[in-house]
Amino acid sequence: MARERLVSAAEQAADAEQSVGALRPGTIGEYVGQRELIERVRIAIEAARSRAEPMEHVLLHGPPGLGKTTLAHVIAAEMGTRAYVTSGPALTKAADLIGTLTKMQANDVLFIDEIHRLPTAVEEYIYPAMEDFRIDFTVDSGMHSKVVTIGLRPFTLIGATTRAGLLTQALRSRFGISHNLGFYPVEDLVTIIDRAARLMKMPPLPAETLSSIAERSRGTPRVALRLLRRVRDFSTVRAGGRQDADVVDRALALEGVDELGLDELDRRYLRALGTTYAGGPAGLEAIAASVGEDSQTLEDVVEPYLLQVGYLARTRQGRRMTDAAFRHVGLTPPARAEALFD
Ligand SMILES: Nc1ncnc2c1ncn2[C@@H]1O[C@H](COP(=O)(O)OP(=O)(O)O)[C@@H](O)[C@H]1O
Ligand SMILES: [Mg+2]
Repeated sequence: MARERLVSAAEQAADAEQSVGALRPGTIGEYVGQRELIERVRIAIEAARSRAEPMEHVLLHGPPGLGKTTLAHVIAAEMGTRAYVTSGPALTKAADLIGTLTKMQANDVLFIDEIHRLPTAVEEYIYPAMEDFRIDFTVDSGMHSKVVTIGLRPFTLIGATTRAGLLTQALRSRFGISHNLGFYPVEDLVTIIDRAARLMKMPPLPAETLSSIAERSRGTPRVALRLLRRVRDFSTVRAGGRQDADVVDRALALEGVDELGLDELDRRYLRALGTTYAGGPAGLEAIAASVGEDSQTLEDVVEPYLLQVGYLARTRQGRRMTDAAFRHVGLTPPARAEALFD
């Protein structure tokens, strides 16, 4: 198997150490950034608590590693309740869902990750559960069938997805709060890295080191924490404990991560689009075939950040690469008569 990408936003085995441990924010005050979302959540929590009701159902969408799972736990903690964690693909049968919902206490949180992968047969049970805190199911079939209703204790459903577009309108409309999480600006990543370094008992990091790691983190806290661990190891083993920006450069160059946070896969994508397709427009499937990578992976973990930094544009005709992207991978931008974003 190919080795895991250091800058991948997807969760990896080594991340577990930090997700379960003290690095994950436990209270809303420790949750850095995403200010608009946090303000909406604070208001909803306070209102719910004053009425002794569960908080509204929340849908969180956005690329992996931006803090969706973390926020679900924070909400449960702030409500003083428990979070039950499951995922769309894990809920294969309605019985799995019913089992969990009937176990939950008043105002608990049910967190469903990858909610776009919830089977249709299970999704139907979710609607009355969300709206009226009840589940209807049919026992027996034919002449003797009857509908049995189970009452549930009021709860909050928090759904997370990287692909809000795949959710049915029926499901989407049942969430009181729906929020798209964007990439984090460098200042917020600096705060996250600084806090994590202290919790990891590293000597205080100089400002230039913090921003150097933050700038390579692709706007993603999960990536920032992973790069920090690589820098810590390199510093101990190869740099006599030094932690300046030069150590960051060397540690991350060794991992193939450049000064923008792009790694070999990102650069392979850009080189394929830049040479084979002369910068595009080219279809995702065609690019995926040239890169030798699955198109889903490219769409989820490569393209969002290339779009964010303005290296890529998605047009009706396909993907197009900007001049800055050509230069980043050492190619000469083609002479183009028309403007790129026509
Ligand atoms: N806003 C934040 N403030 C501090 N740390 C964060 C924040 N968002 C995410 N993290 C850290 O990044 C890691 C990934 O977050 P996670 O909630 O698992 O992302 P997602 O569920 O969106 O993929 C977590 O381990 C957490 O420690
Ligand atoms: Mg998650």
